[in-house]
Amino acid sequence: MKLIVCKDYEEMSTVAADIMADVITASDAPVLGLATGSTPVGMYKKLIEMNRAGEIDFSGVTTVNLDEYYPIAPDNDQSYRYFMNENLFDHVNINKARTFVPNGMADDPEAACEAYEAIVASVGAADIQVLGIGQNGHIGFNEPADALEVKTHVTGLTESTIRANARFFASEADVPTKALTMGIGTILGAKKIIILANGTSKHEAVSKMLAGKLDTSCPASMLNLHADVTVICDEAAYNG
Ligand code: F6R
Repeated sequence: MKLIVCKDYEEMSTVAADIMADVITASDAPVLGLATGSTPVGMYKKLIEMNRAGEIDFSGVTTVNLDEYYPIAPDNDQSYRYFMNENLFDHVNINKARTFVPNGMADDPEAACEAYEAIVASVGAADIQVLGIGQNGHIGFNEPADALEVKTHVTGLTESTIRANARFFASEADVPTKALTMGIGTILGAKKIIILANGTSKHEAVSKMLAGKLDTSCPASMLNLHADVTVICDEAAYNG
C-alpha cells in the first residue's frame, strides 16, 4: 500500500481530487467508483471547482457508488443517491443516466444486489474506486465479521455504524438498519483504489489496515490484496 500523510483535511482533499482529476482526464469514458459519508465531501468540492474552471470534463464519466441504505427512497435527504446529487452530480456536467447507486427501494433487495453486481460488471472495472473507512474498519458497508462477502449483498449495520451515522438523522432510531453494499470482491475489482481517512477516530482502523495482515475484524485490511491502493490520510488519523 502506498501511504500519503497530509497535514490536514484540506490537503487530503486536494491530493485526492488531483488523483481523481488525472484519472478523469486520462480517458474519454472513465469509470469512477464513488463513496458517500463526510470524508470525501472536500474532495467532491474540489472536483466541482475544477469542472467549473474547465479543467476536468464529466461528460463521458460513468459512476458506480459503493452502497445505499435499505430501505430508503432516492429523494430522502439521507439516501446516498440524494447525497451524490447534492455533493457532486448536480454541480458538474455529468450524464445522470450514467450514475449508478444500489436501489434502496427495491421490493426484492437480494435481486437488486444481483442486478447491481451485473451493472458494475457491465460498465467495466472502475478506473478508480474512492473509499472512506469506518471507525470499525468497514469499507462500503462491509462490517467486521468472521467471514466477509465477495459480491454486492444485503447487510445489517452494526451498532457502532448506526451510532456513527445517527449524526445525519433526526435520531438513532431513524437510521436504517440495513444496506445494500458492494462486496469486498466487487471493490477489489477496481483498477486503482484510494482510501481517505481523517481525524483521530479513524486512527485505530487505519493502523489495523496498514498492519499488512488480512483480518476480517478490519474489512479495510483486505485492500492489502490489491496491487494499487493509496491511503491518503491526515496526521490525526495516522498518528492518533
Ligand atoms: C460510504 C461508505 C462508508 C463510509 C464510512 C466512513 O459510501 O461506504 O464506508 O466511507 O462509513 O464514513 P465517514 O466518511 O462519514 O466517516
